[in-house]
Amino acid sequence: MSQLSINGARWLPTCLDHPAQEQLVREVAKIGALAPPFAPVMPRTGKPFSVTMTNCGPLGWVSDRAGYRYQATHPETGKPWPSMPPVVLDLWTRLTGCAYPPEACLVNFYGAGARMGLHADRDEAARDAPVLSISLGDTAIFRVGAETRRGPTLSARLQSGDVVILENDSRSAFHGIDRIIPGTSTLLERQFPETRRINLTLRRVNTPDDS
Ligand code: SIN
Ligand code: MN
Repeated sequence: MSQLSINGARWLPTCLDHPAQEQLVREVAKIGALAPPFAPVMPRTGKPFSVTMTNCGPLGWVSDRAGYRYQATHPETGKPWPSMPPVVLDLWTRLTGCAYPPEACLVNFYGAGARMGLHADRDEAARDAPVLSISLGDTAIFRVGAETRRGPTLSARLQSGDVVILENDSRSAFHGIDRIIPGTSTLLERQFPETRRINLTLRRVNTPDDS
């Protein structure tokens, strides 16, 4: 498997082959049936995100007027999040070398015009653990900068099946999705006709002694 770097982030193009991508789409469909995608809003302003989200695993990331946080239940159904599919746990173990399992798997659904503004993942106490992200569906322009918002950035075209790992210095780097390129993949066509791209992000939230 080839391995590249985007400003220190480890980029594994086509880490998942087509059958593995299809299997993961089926897993996401099962997760979405148990934990329907919700529309998060920005803290304070209430401005909606352009993506919808759901989660699987013991904890899920949510954002509403009260703030960003991890919680054990879906904000609308009140039910615990569905469990993480073994395929993603397996990727985490194989690729990160992290001694502890991930606790949260955020699933972002991008429509044709959706994007994700430049941000750093800082809601986790376990900042030593990497962040592993999987792309499915249309190609996205992913941007990675430095630990400060104004630092220089580089962008890369993430395709379906690509994995990116934010680790070491890049763990706290600013990153985001400038835009997606509609029509570059047919992977989601049947099961998610309204969605152009799905991103799964695995994170360890608590340090082993406070979880
Ligand atoms: C994120 O950083 O929250 C999502 C990144 C992606 O969609 O690839
Ligand atoms: Mn992020």
